[in-house]
Amino acid sequence: MPEATHAPVAAIVWEQTQLRLLDQRLLPGQEVWCHCQDAQSVVQAIRDMAVRGAPAIGIAAAYGVVLAARQCQGQADWRQQLEQAMNDLAASRPTAVNLCWAINRLRDLLVSQTESAQAVVALEEAAIAMHRDDEQGNRLMGETACDLMLASGEYPFAVLTHCNTGSLACGGYGTALGAIRSLWRRGGLTRVYADETRPWLQGSRLTAWELQREGLPVVLNADGAAAAILRRGEVKWVIVGADRITANGDVANKIGTYGLAILARHHGVRFMVVAHSATVDMATARGSEIVIEEREDTELTQVAGHSIAPAGVVTYNPVFDVTPADLVDVIVTEKGVVRQPTCEKMLALFAG
Ligand code: MRU
Repeated sequence: MPEATHAPVAAIVWEQTQLRLLDQRLLPGQEVWCHCQDAQSVVQAIRDMAVRGAPAIGIAAAYGVVLAARQCQGQADWRQQLEQAMNDLAASRPTAVNLCWAINRLRDLLVSQTESAQAVVALEEAAIAMHRDDEQGNRLMGETACDLMLASGEYPFAVLTHCNTGSLACGGYGTALGAIRSLWRRGGLTRVYADETRPWLQGSRLTAWELQREGLPVVLNADGAAAAILRRGEVKWVIVGADRITANGDVANKIGTYGLAILARHHGVRFMVVAHSATVDMATARGSEIVIEEREDTELTQVAGHSIAPAGVVTYNPVFDVTPADLVDVIVTEKGVVRQPTCEKMLALFAG
């Protein structure tokens, strides 16, 4: 059984009075930590993508609420201040539902808190529990996804993934990358093709870094090479994470995921989404209702500060897309599996 050479990196570290975040903007070149001592610096870290990935921003925001509660502890208007901080955190990025999921859970908890010192303790316990549950959930869904893949045909085989869904994007371990880690450990994997993931390069800067440091067989490819790779036949599964899964099974994820799902269907390759149930948004009926974040044009016109496009060119930079449910073969969560998702099947697993 192959063994990873390093444990997955821990990129979110809670230290009671501060939140430490491994700055993902600087990887793989530099390992620098951001030290957040107030909620505003967590808002900034999420907005600027020092921390990114749907589960990771939910967890960081939860710790941000704890920092906000400490800041206003003992003050007469602590509830109003805390509410403002939660609203600021919730607005820091629009597409990943984990952010609002985490904040709403903490908001619900506050209803029963009568004084601010007590609230700090309760919020901190809840944030730590969310962080721990995310990692445990990742390990569980990784094994489930792996069981499903190994049962589906001959192995070992190659897989292809998009963006970064590893321990950098989560509380630890990873969603799609967690499934890939489990597959490797259980002898099911020959290699992982990692899409570079233009324009922010989560695939080349983060996924390739995470997998290489652990000794997993990663092959970096340009996004545009995915079709040619799938055509060769060695890839049996495309495995991705999600930022929001709606009640009908539509999946919002990093821009380029929809195209990959079409390619997978065309080439007879199965398409799997691995996500924590916190990413499932049963209150949103379908993917067309999701707000898709658009980011600044410099993500397209510059690389590492160097201009790669003519000055003044008009750009369009949506950073997520929606894969319709009918292109998804299976959604794997820590609560269970939905094959060929439909509203009815989603409701059966995620109602309540
Ligand atoms: O813009 P990012 O880097 O935050 O986008 C991340 C993704 O799209 C991931 O695929 C998704 O959050 C799943 S991570 C477990």
